[in-house]
Amino acid sequence: MPTPDLSTIDPALASVVAAPSTLALLRELHTAALSEPAYVSTDEQPASVALDRFVALEPDKAALVYLLLRASGARHVVEAGTSFGVSTIYLALAVGQNGGGKVIATENEPTKAAGAREHWRRAGADVERWIELREGDIRETLKADLPKQVDALLLDIWTFLALPTLALVKPRLRVGALIVVDNVIAGAAGYKDLFEYLDDPKNGFRSTTAPYPGGLRVAVYVGEGDP
Ligand SMILES: C[S@@+](CC[C@H](N)C(=O)[O-])C[C@H]1O[C@@H](n2cnc3c(N)ncnc32)[C@H](O)[C@@H]1O
Repeated sequence: MPTPDLSTIDPALASVVAAPSTLALLRELHTAALSEPAYVSTDEQPASVALDRFVALEPDKAALVYLLLRASGARHVVEAGTSFGVSTIYLALAVGQNGGGKVIATENEPTKAAGAREHWRRAGADVERWIELREGDIRETLKADLPKQVDALLLDIWTFLALPTLALVKPRLRVGALIVVDNVIAGAAGYKDLFEYLDDPKNGFRSTTAPYPGGLRVAVYVGEGDP
């Protein structure tokens, strides 16, 4: 296996405000995540191969999401695809530093959910207190009890679940809400329906793709009436 490139971890963490022990945990988790074989959600690569893998957002993408949430003052965030809870830590730090709110995390693999809870416990109360983990199939767990207003949605889940997830959350998106989608270049084929939806102006989104490895799409919900 090739030696992992860990050089992005420290520059990314330099932009994140967190206790030294939380930063040390993020460094540890990113090191483990970057050391595993790459996984891209495609029809050819079955999800079963990723059962014990982090498949976590890379550090620089996670730092960007954290900064975007800080910039936009997001307090109610939905995370589609939590895995072992690495990206959730960034979301919870931002929500806490924006004045508090809720991160709704979602995971259907019980061992991953348990691992995520343990990582959040280790991340400390300033992280853990903002997270509500919904275990089970996201198509069920997001059907009810969403916050009145959702400020941001992180779509980091198998590609075929991205559009159904957006459809569940969209009625609660505030105008100006952020939608961040991972691996949009590498996973382009699987995201075809999502892109068609996001790119049709009548649906109220405007977006661009940041050229991180695999690609990261950043969309803003401008509202369906936006010219
Ligand atoms: C790419 S990983 C999430 C990584 C995480 N955002 C991070 O950066 O640490 C996607 C996760 O979605 C979960 N998942 C897949 N299908 C799901 C479903 N139907 N409901 C809930 N979670 C699901 C997978 O088990 C996997 O852990």
